[in-house]
Amino acid sequence: MSEIRWHLFPDAQSVANETVRRISKAARHAVEHRNEFHLVLAGGSTPRLVYRQLGASGADFSRWHIYLGDERCLDPDDSERNSLMIRNDWLDQAAIPSANIHWIPAELGPEQGASRYESEISSALPFDLVMLGMGEDGHTASLFPGQQHDQSRLVVPVYQSPKPPPERVSLNYSALSQTGELLVLVTGEGKRGAVEAWRSNADLPVAALRCEAGVDVLLDREAAGELV
Ligand code: 6PG
Repeated sequence: MSEIRWHLFPDAQSVANETVRRISKAARHAVEHRNEFHLVLAGGSTPRLVYRQLGASGADFSRWHIYLGDERCLDPDDSERNSLMIRNDWLDQAAIPSANIHWIPAELGPEQGASRYESEISSALPFDLVMLGMGEDGHTASLFPGQQHDQSRLVVPVYQSPKPPPERVSLNYSALSQTGELLVLVTGEGKRGAVEAWRSNADLPVAALRCEAGVDVLLDREAAGELV
């Protein structure tokens, strides 16, 4: 069982500010000790404030390696692709070698995308920092309630996702847990029910996350609800 640490912030911007602080600190440490920083990004809308802040920071990302926790099985230029959102908000403005950006080839479809990405990340483990979001049903990455996956796989194909599009590729718990730091960003009133269920030990994908360093949940007052 991993320790879960709940960090409450006034609003979504404060959650983003703290996330950027933690990412920057982890990056400094990783670059200083190993001359590179391996970061797994979250999809969805919650982390966009983080990406825009990094995009405006002018920081040196040349030693950063970027991975994704999950991707939708759409063309790379589809507006619903997580990779396109992150490029628009951050990476297209950042001086980072294209070889250091490791997108999930989800356009190949769930199975081929998953097996290709598993080969790519297996040599990158452990990550330095993994950031994730959480859906209103308690899913994280593209690991959804009621969906079983082969736990021997680092990356899994996802079919019939309840959150469109139906086909995705997702890092599995085994990959998400191999990291120096694991952050879950949760903001907005819509997440309140899942937060309460998580804190009541409900059997949710987000509650199955494990990390030796513990799991840090960064949430705002709207998502925290009764916790306040
Ligand atoms: C995705 C995301 C997904 C997301 C949660 C929360 O591809 O949809 O990776 O896991 O993190 O659904 O989404 P929001 O941040 O938009 O609420």
